[in-house]
Amino acid sequence: MFKGLILGILLAVLLIAGGVYYYFSSGMAPVATSSAPMPFEKKLAKMGQNSYLNKLPHPEPQVPADDPNMLSGAKVYKENCAVCHGLPGAPKTAVAQGMYPAPPQLFHGVGVTDDDAWESYWKVENGIRMTGMPGFKGQLTEPQIWQVSVLVKNADKISAAVRTELAAGATTPMSMAMPDSTPAPAKK
Ligand code: HEC
Repeated sequence: MFKGLILGILLAVLLIAGGVYYYFSSGMAPVATSSAPMPFEKKLAKMGQNSYLNKLPHPEPQVPADDPNMLSGAKVYKENCAVCHGLPGAPKTAVAQGMYPAPPQLFHGVGVTDDDAWESYWKVENGIRMTGMPGFKGQLTEPQIWQVSVLVKNADKISAAVRTELAAGATTPMSMAMPDSTPAPAKK
């Protein structure tokens, strides 16, 4: 009786493991961005993210949501985020349309105005695995990440000046935005 139970459990575990292996090895798992999601994919990803974030400290924003910080945030946003997360009043970019999961358009609808700023700070600093959302740790400074986080937190109440800054297009030429590999010419 007891032996039969153990054998049954073992068999069930083997069957599940084999089924999961077969799902991936036979090419049934979704690969293209346009494929339907895997069973439970969204549910499991959200559950993992929420439980992880809940365990973290929830710091207050380290910069006030005033115009100077929001303007600096807008510069960061144009150069690093707009290609995926869009600009106010602008249509979705080709990049945004081709991604799975879709990057939320942060200046349309609620965006992340209903999330605390620390939560967006964490996502910008660390990225979100297997979504295309990059982590910017080491690429943006901590104040820059706070500035862009308070910007997206307050995306529904930006001033005219911030709106103008966002609409003005990226100001940094590509050559300057890229990390410099050649040393600057020596000054005499
Ligand atoms: C290459 C595209 C890409 C770039 C560039 C990018 N993101 Fe994202 N981002 C994503 C995707 C895709 C998601 C959705 C992840 C998911 O579904 O969990 C996301 C999610 C987020 C979220 C969480 C949204 C939510 O509803 O929880 C925030 C906040 C965010 N990004 C902010 C930024 C900021 C700020 C920048 C620039 C510093 C940036 N992202 C740059 C693709 C990008």
